Amino acid sequence: MPRTARDVVFVDGARTPFGKAGKGLYAETRADDLVVRVIRELLRRNPQLPPERVDEVAIAATTQIGDQGLTIGRSAALLAGLPRSVPGYAIDRMCAGALTAATTAGAGISFGAYDVVIAGGVEHMGRHPMGEGVDPNPRFLSEKLVDPSALVMGNTAENLHDRFPSITKERADAYAVRSQDKVAKAYAEGKIQQDLVETLVRSVEQGFGLASADEPPRAGTSMEDLAKLKTPFRAHGNVTPGNAAGLNDGATGAILAAEDVAAEMGLDARMRLVDFSFAGVEPEVMGVGPVPATEKLLARQGMSMDDIGLIEINEAFAVQVLAFLEHFGIADDDARVNPWGGAIALGHPLASSGVRLMMQLSRLFAEHPEVRYGLTTMCVGMGMGGTVLWENTNWEGNAK
Ligand SMILES: CC(C)(COP(=O)(O)OP(=O)(O)OC[C@H]1O[C@@H](n2cnc3c(N)ncnc32)[C@H](O)[C@@H]1OP(=O)(O)O)[C@@H](O)C(=O)NCCC(=O)NCCS
Repeated sequence: MPRTARDVVFVDGARTPFGKAGKGLYAETRADDLVVRVIRELLRRNPQLPPERVDEVAIAATTQIGDQGLTIGRSAALLAGLPRSVPGYAIDRMCAGALTAATTAGAGISFGAYDVVIAGGVEHMGRHPMGEGVDPNPRFLSEKLVDPSALVMGNTAENLHDRFPSITKERADAYAVRSQDKVAKAYAEGKIQQDLVETLVRSVEQGFGLASADEPPRAGTSMEDLAKLKTPFRAHGNVTPGNAAGLNDGATGAILAAEDVAAEMGLDARMRLVDFSFAGVEPEVMGVGPVPATEKLLARQGMSMDDIGLIEINEAFAVQVLAFLEHFGIADDDARVNPWGGAIALGHPLASSGVRLMMQLSRLFAEHPEVRYGLTTMCVGMGMGGTVLWENTNWEGNAK
């Protein structure tokens, strides 16, 4: 039977406020409960979607053990009260987990296997510190397949500073200050809150509480503050806790649907999935991954960066964002890039972040009908990048 690819749209996104790992908001909250909160919120906000019409629940986590194990897409779907007929699975591409959940499940819609999916991610870096339980094959080092620095993300960021001497610590710090400023402004204007779901938190000592805002942002951060910070990954290095994303807890989720099905159900269609691309780079400089992923994608689409009106890039490290901008000849403070700030301020619970980028892009699209295309892009440990191209369904050209 001939097959026709279907258009896929981003309907809605929601996330828990992000917390600081360790003694933060979710110190005594399970990771799977964060996912449940997100799924329930997506269903609450979209009552036109009959829960039994969800065809798949794809949830990413980097560390898939304990409360992030047990095939979290399926277990969270059951815990969220979705009908037992709704299947789910777990997915992992480290930091690009949720991004991959969206592209994989979205591609399944395009293929015709699904009508509606929920895709997202979770990382409770307090309960599951980076690297928990990993057992790298000794051949990586004995056969010099990678340098030891490739296995520590902060070291890969220091390597990037070596690779791009023009990206100084001052430039990285200035980028980080802008990220903090943009998040503070977006919060003051109520932008970030639109996609947050208030989340119950509990503490044996303090009792119950409600998380209603991200915990990591440090409004008012100055260059002077950042200049004082230690460089934990290398003596006299360039990467500090101030110009890197932190260690965080949080969950995200999104509803994606076939465009015709969304219309039939009366669901929003905020942006259209146009294409996506993943690429590998040397693991020692994993932060540069978004460059070839984006190059590959733009080439396939016959587009250039001039066609892109908004870019949501994950800020794992300032240096890695700046390497991307430098490659494409984009100014460090270009207004198209992370207009509401990014992970340096908001936090980066690894496998959850990709869908946060998408929900922010979809909100920005609504405010910018003059923009037709936008990107969500991120770097990935072990040397990868992933980029997704989206089309604004509010684009004013549609009306012409
Ligand atoms: C960089 C890193 C090691 C810092 O961890 P940490 O030491 O637990 O971080 P903290 O939040 O406690 O910050 C350390 C210090 O910097 C200070 N600090 C952090 N950000 C600051 C800011 N914007 N302004 C002023 N001070 C700041 C903190 O107050 C703290 O000071 P203190 O030691 O006097 O209490 C950790 O965040 C990290 O590994 N980040 C990268 C995560 C990662 O690799 N993700 C995957 C990407 S691929």
